[in-house]
Amino acid sequence: MKFQVETERLILREFREEDASGLLRLNSNPEVIKYLHMEPYKNIEDGIKDVKWVTDQYPKNKIGRWIMLEKSTGEFMGWTGLKLEDMEMNGQQNFYDVGYRMLPEFWGKGYATESVLASLKYGFEEMNLEKINAAAHCENLASRRVLKKSGFKELNSFDIFDFQAYWFELTREEYLAEK
Ligand SMILES: CC(C)(COP(=O)(O)OP(=O)(O)OC[C@H]1O[C@@H](n2cnc3c(N)ncnc32)[C@H](O)[C@@H]1OP(=O)(O)O)[C@@H](O)C(=O)NCCC(=O)NCCS
Repeated sequence: MKFQVETERLILREFREEDASGLLRLNSNPEVIKYLHMEPYKNIEDGIKDVKWVTDQYPKNKIGRWIMLEKSTGEFMGWTGLKLEDMEMNGQQNFYDVGYRMLPEFWGKGYATESVLASLKYGFEEMNLEKINAAAHCENLASRRVLKKSGFKELNSFDIFDFQAYWFELTREEYLAEK
């Protein structure tokens, strides 16, 4: 499934096999995965598996995460976007989750927030979703700030894996009212 959305500074497009090496750099970086419950990627096969896992979701769910490229350079930055989450979280399942993960050289420039706003526009205006959720490790202050800046309400905290996370929600009604 082909996809491309442009924002002021970003290109968001579908995962491709050529992204495997970028995904390996991303998910083998201890700073990047500090608040994520995962083993660091070890080799290119892990990146290739990731591409397959995401691209398999596109036809099945009509959505999946997108690769983020820096518009001015064309460089791989990481990924962002919506996912139909089938894992139970905070007592909910099969909800639309927004997420993002970037290489550290791209942090602190407002890129994650810019990408979340593009995902919200797509989710609410193209897919007509009723609500979008997100979860962030309680200590992941940058991620919590991204979600709050994007209009999400930070609701309860809950146990997940071996840590506590906050649960976020934004309804279509709230999104349209804030526009
Ligand atoms: C979380 C992440 C995507 C943020 O990306 P980013 O492009 O730097 O985010 P933005 O610039 O849009 O916004 C970050 C906000 O958090 C703030 N922030 C950053 N680090 C912070 C910290 N340690 N404490 C408090 N606030 C912090 C920034 O000041 C900014 O807020 P502001 O605009 O009010 O100043 C990036 O750090 C990342 O990829 N982390 C690793 C993967 C990850 O944790 N993903 C989220 C999983 S839930």
